[in-house]
Amino acid sequence: MSTAYLNGVFQPLSETRVSVMDRGFLFGDGVYEVIPVYGGRLFRLTHHLTRLCNSLDAVRIGNPLSTAAWETMLNDLVIRNNGGDQAVYLQVTRGVAPKRDHAFPENTSPTLFAMSTPLAASVELDSIIGTTAITLPDIRWKLCNIKAITLLPNVLLRQQAIDSDGAEAILIKDGFAIEGAASNIFIVRNGLLITPPNGPALLPGITRDLVIELAASHAIPFREADISEEELFSADEVWLTSSTREISPVIRLDDSIISGGVPGPLWRRMISLYQDYKIALRKGDAS
Ligand code: PDD
Repeated sequence: MSTAYLNGVFQPLSETRVSVMDRGFLFGDGVYEVIPVYGGRLFRLTHHLTRLCNSLDAVRIGNPLSTAAWETMLNDLVIRNNGGDQAVYLQVTRGVAPKRDHAFPENTSPTLFAMSTPLAASVELDSIIGTTAITLPDIRWKLCNIKAITLLPNVLLRQQAIDSDGAEAILIKDGFAIEGAASNIFIVRNGLLITPPNGPALLPGITRDLVIELAASHAIPFREADISEEELFSADEVWLTSSTREISPVIRLDDSIISGGVPGPLWRRMISLYQDYKIALRKGDAS
């Protein structure tokens, strides 16, 4: 049975309830994080908590816990869900207000909810055949750097990709590829790894940052630069990164075959560096 956390209390997920007057339910007024856990250890916890603070500041919700209290609670949640590999989901909303009113309620404390969800089992790298994606116009708002629970555009975009037999939608804005509906994007061009620079147009992904760090520490040529739609389609490799999908090689984009229809050589190198990082994390040699 899965254990959840709500406002200071651990309890079975199936019995966890919030009020229908919660601002998260009525307005999508809240922020969230998804943190993978390998071998019982939270992956890049400090980075996730920093991003959470940034999201909370951006939407003017007070952080309900200190960094130390977050760490204690999340580690406790992982243990109560039997350690191993899992994904922790947490969200903080503006809380329960007496009436529905767009303006911030007074004297309301944030609602803090966390749960553990299963993480897809790791597969042999050789069995990864690559994924398909479609391009769609980026219909989201102008503050996509905030990890807001208000995800209706992302839900519609991802579903449109699935309806077209794609695993992800790559979002195009003003002729440039921005990110996926729930992932960041990288391309490889003549041996150079490229991802769009952080800013309000995209989420500063934790997986993205690790890929950049691994490129820097292993002398893989790398640049943060805008990616035009033309560069996307003519790229040697296209990757999508996220906490739950790690680094996913795209082999088909709309009607175009990417990288000859197989995961590319730089992806192979990067995914094995990424797996090494996970092994180090499991041993307690990385965080
Ligand atoms: N989504 N961009 C968007 C819009 C995302 O929703 C996500 C992750 C990412 C990748 O960020 P990270 O590497 O920190 O997971 C980029 C999570 C997994 C989700 O919504 O479930």
